[in-house]
Amino acid sequence: MKRIVNALLLILLMGACSPEEDLSHAWPVYKSDPESTSYSPLDQINRSNVVQLEVAWTYQHDDVPTGTHYGKYECNPIIVDDVLYATSSRSWLYAIDACTGEKRWAFDPFDGERGGGMKRGVTYWRSGSDGRILFTAGHYLFAVDAQTGRPIPTFGTDGRINLNEDLGVDPDSVWVIPTSPGIIYEDLLILGSEVSESYGAAPGHIRAYQVQTGNLVWIFHTIPQPGEPGYETWPPDAWKYAGGANNWGGMSLDEERGIVYAPLGSPTYDFYGADRAGQNLYGNSLVALDARTGALRWHFQTVHHDLWDYDLPAPPTLVTVERNGRKIDAVSLTSKIGFLYLFDRETGEPLFPIEEQPVPPSGVAGEQAWPTQPFPLRPAPYARQDMTSEDVTNISEEARDAVRSRLQELRFEGLFTPPDPRGTLMIPGTRGGSEWGGSAYDPNSGLLIFNANESPEIMTLQTQGPETQIRGQSLYARGERYYLNYCAICHGGDRRGQLPANPALLGLATRLTPKETISKIRSGTGRMPSFDHLNQEQEEAIIAFLFDLKDKKAAPTRMTEKEAPPSYRNITAYSFFRDPEGNPAVAPPWGTLNALNISTGEYAWQIPLGNHPQWQTAGAPETGMENWGGPMLTAGGLVFIAATKDKKLRAFDKDTGARLWETTLPGPGYATPSTYTCHGRQFVVISVTGDEAAPGGSIVAFALPQGE
Ligand code: HEC
Repeated sequence: MKRIVNALLLILLMGACSPEEDLSHAWPVYKSDPESTSYSPLDQINRSNVVQLEVAWTYQHDDVPTGTHYGKYECNPIIVDDVLYATSSRSWLYAIDACTGEKRWAFDPFDGERGGGMKRGVTYWRSGSDGRILFTAGHYLFAVDAQTGRPIPTFGTDGRINLNEDLGVDPDSVWVIPTSPGIIYEDLLILGSEVSESYGAAPGHIRAYQVQTGNLVWIFHTIPQPGEPGYETWPPDAWKYAGGANNWGGMSLDEERGIVYAPLGSPTYDFYGADRAGQNLYGNSLVALDARTGALRWHFQTVHHDLWDYDLPAPPTLVTVERNGRKIDAVSLTSKIGFLYLFDRETGEPLFPIEEQPVPPSGVAGEQAWPTQPFPLRPAPYARQDMTSEDVTNISEEARDAVRSRLQELRFEGLFTPPDPRGTLMIPGTRGGSEWGGSAYDPNSGLLIFNANESPEIMTLQTQGPETQIRGQSLYARGERYYLNYCAICHGGDRRGQLPANPALLGLATRLTPKETISKIRSGTGRMPSFDHLNQEQEEAIIAFLFDLKDKKAAPTRMTEKEAPPSYRNITAYSFFRDPEGNPAVAPPWGTLNALNISTGEYAWQIPLGNHPQWQTAGAPETGMENWGGPMLTAGGLVFIAATKDKKLRAFDKDTGARLWETTLPGPGYATPSTYTCHGRQFVVISVTGDEAAPGGSIVAFALPQGE
């Protein structure tokens, strides 16, 4: 009986995948299509009926062990043949009936172990009846049968590949944990990676794997090796030890031209570069690669010798620009800095002028900040790059005075002021401007829609003398350093806490296991912020310190003690510059949504995104909020976006920015929505971050009431 059913299924499947298959009702790729437009031609839900949207189904993930705390859930689900594929906030893979929200199957990549970590999506590939989901969990790439949810044994080793291998470095000394999905070109999966931000990080080389076998087909060295172009932009031996320059935000593909566009992050260590003098190609560059061979077609570096962690954070969006009646295929790129870049897809020629301008030198021993940086002259930046007296928070007198006096102590000479021991203002901060949500593009009007943050930070460099040198220390000693950097401010240098608010961490072993502690560190708890940017080595070291594991050996690193340069660390990295109440140090808006006419470089509209009603003064615009997800555009004339902490999902008129609808989700929607139809009914779905009661998070689907 089962065989017959299988045979029937096969016939059905083969019918479904004829070459003319129409995918316009589906969402088969992360951010909708290889061009990363986050656009859907569906228009059943439109300006006139969007107010009627209601919850059609909710799927709640139940894979989180009790007692865990919730983590951000950033997945943009894909939908193929009425099945929705998504990772949970714990990195399990799910297949869910897209019409009803019922679970088809789940796959646990950790095989019963705790595991976890951020994943923004998965990749679908099909040939004939062979449909596969390719996705990463930890440092493994998996190929899973889309029908059954079982790993495909002929792929790699038992259905998976160790991504720490094949990088030309000791696989045990690095960790490579992609957070965004790869992209398919023919039978290749092209994949980037997330690596450590610290000294000794893995290089961010881009790799292409054969989908059927998992064999490595090509590798593009984002840190060039001898004989490769760009090698001269580093010290001669840097390719052996430098890390980063990785693609963590995802890529886009021009299928017809066979070109893949990969935006890259900064080289490591992020805030001090004495061991990497030079421009550091292809750090912070958009690279255009031949998708079949990995050969470099062209590149553009947005930050030379990065000292600010200004990674390029999202897949670029492929657009078409009109110039003097001529259509030019272009690639648009959002950034953390608040610049929007636009290049000819074929040649890499900037389509608006970009000027190299002098920037301030570093005052720190050994550092050679690059003397100039590229400034696009158009479009105007979409996030503030300066903090004048008008930009200082105005929500209360106390807040303003506190921020002003702190500002006076800081170094700031405009964008690209290098980090300093005295403290440097950084605006935008490391969280943008733009983040990994990227942009959405309307092919009919040429509007590009993107959200942004207004979140200054302070960088404070602290020298690491020989006695505090991280490398060569025991794990315990490293952990103590990290603890003093990140945790002591609340839990006290002596771990005695500051009661009642901040608990003591002495004797932690009587209350928590190391795993429970790691999950608290990652997701935050109560008034404790999340530290999900710490890498594995930092987490393990902090655990060794908190649990008094004095004998535990530190993992080997890529450099011997002798090679390790004298180093600095940014001890206030990734913490927002806030007023004493915890609000941003800049005046509102604190988050925005922007619509740019891609041909003229003029903004059609720019509005605050999200609201803190308690800080909104009478008659003033909404305050905007920190936001962490992307927009979606539909032919119904709508922009859907959640992204904000206030748990709202909103729909705006794409032409005017007028808000047409909003609803409150069970938690914040720090993800990009998707849309599709099932039996003729259009759905809008979004991943929702969990809470104490339901830490696994959920996927919520909206649709018009049935019978309309
Ligand atoms: C901004 C202040 C702040 C910082 C910084 C901070 N914590 Fe916390 N932490 C807290 C608060 C407040 C709590 C209690 C949370 C609650 O209300 O449940 C807490 C709780 C904890 C707990 C649970 C303690 C228990 O007994 O259950 C652990 C473990 C912990 N923190 C570890 C860390 C580590 C490790 C770091 C550094 C990586 C860190 N914290 C940084 C404020 C902070």
